[in-house]
Amino acid sequence: MTFCSRRADRAILRFALCLVMGLFYVRLTAADLLPTAAEIGKQIFLDTSLSQPKGQACISCHQPKHAFADPRPVSPGAVAGRSGTRNSPSLMYAALIPGFVYEEVLTNDGTEIFAHEGGLFYDGRAQDLFQQVQQPFFDPNEMNLPDRATLAERIRKASYAEEFRSVVGEKIWNDDRKLNYHVFRALVEFLQEPMFRPFDARIDDYLAGKKDALSEAELRGLEVFRNDGKCADCHFLQPANWSKPLLSDFGYDNLGVPSRGKKDPGLGGRTKDPDELGQFRAPSLRNVALTAPYMHNGSIATLKEVVEFYNKRDADLQRWGPTDYPQTVNHDDMGKLGLTDQQITDVVALMYAFTDRTLLRVSDKQKFPATKPGTPRTVEIRLLLPGWTHRQHPDFPGVFDHDANDESS
Ligand code: HEC
Ligand code: HEC
Repeated sequence: MTFCSRRADRAILRFALCLVMGLFYVRLTAADLLPTAAEIGKQIFLDTSLSQPKGQACISCHQPKHAFADPRPVSPGAVAGRSGTRNSPSLMYAALIPGFVYEEVLTNDGTEIFAHEGGLFYDGRAQDLFQQVQQPFFDPNEMNLPDRATLAERIRKASYAEEFRSVVGEKIWNDDRKLNYHVFRALVEFLQEPMFRPFDARIDDYLAGKKDALSEAELRGLEVFRNDGKCADCHFLQPANWSKPLLSDFGYDNLGVPSRGKKDPGLGGRTKDPDELGQFRAPSLRNVALTAPYMHNGSIATLKEVVEFYNKRDADLQRWGPTDYPQTVNHDDMGKLGLTDQQITDVVALMYAFTDRTLLRVSDKQKFPATKPGTPRTVEIRLLLPGWTHRQHPDFPGVFDHDANDESS
């Protein structure tokens, strides 16, 4: 800017003026001109050029109409004929799942035990969302990219490449490892968006004091959910990890669900503790009516069958067939609840009140649900989010040292 020329007469005044203008320019750029990381994360979420072969994106297995889950028991991978062994979970509220911990827990009878809690994936193998979003790209049963260099290469050719490049700057853009870091950060920002955490279900209204938000049948179902069904012992109705109920304690259990072939060791596969074989993290039941089929392996087709399973698993072994790890199945809290048919129908009815209205309004043409007005923006709740941290992420040491010559990936 010639205006800022050093030869100007009243240099100091001009300097001050330039500084103010400069700051104003930066503010304007950041706030109004550049797309936010979350918006880039959204583009990445939709981008089918990031798989090998091309054709698969996050949204292929996490479909908005199904609360970002997959109606198929297991999702096919990018490579024809390949698939994983687990059912794609909902991404609603995934950003609020607490980090993986081994923690002291008080049981119902007041004894203290240590137990695993939280973490992303059914076996909690990702400590936080940032670790989680790195895996699908390179999972041979999912997007199947060979390495981080390929991901960076594909991103540089993406339709949103220019926007992304202008946000991160030249140095990062040309550095595979740093660019990868920003891809993952952008996805995390996207998954933290208000759209994923509306708390807009009728159960929210009811728990907030609107007593007529639930029907007669649903109210009876709530009674069963709290008492005879013992559901609320694990699918918490009270706020625990978040200021509103997430309908899970994020603890681990082996329910003895029907086997679907190859044994899945779940938590025990990671911890190598034989008592934890076949244990999986309790999912949130928010929007559960939209996410059939159920359980970590998609082995139970409907909510009615889920409740029948909890009710009579042990009396009806024939019906459910073998389970992967019978020796660690929880027989204390479920399996022979003695619920009547009416109670079963009522609990099922209740679970329909866990659906966010914003999701009920997603049409076939619409890509994403609307954001419920009044939902706090991410900046307002940042400090409360489980994965948020000031420090550099341990998986990416030195990523902010602009001069460091970091090569490793
Ligand atoms: C081929 C299907 C497929 C694709 C593609 C896919 N996912 Fe997933 N996703 C799954 C499955 C299956 C699981 C559960 C796996 C497990 O527990 O081991 C999962 C789990 C998750 C979770 C953890 C949720 C929880 O409750 O623990 C998140 C978050 C997630 N995916 C986000 C993404 C993102 C972001 C992308 C794109 C980069 C993506 N997924 C691509 C199938 C897929
Ligand atoms: C002891 C803890 C515990 C209790 C009690 C419990 N659940 Fe669960 N629930 C879990 C766990 C753990 C899973 C995941 C198991 C798996 O995938 O293998 C689960 C899964 C589910 C699912 C499948 C969700 C999905 O997205 O696939 C539904 C539905 C469900 N529970 C409803 C209920 C109902 C209704 C009750 C009461 C009748 C109940 N649960 C009682 C721990 C519990």
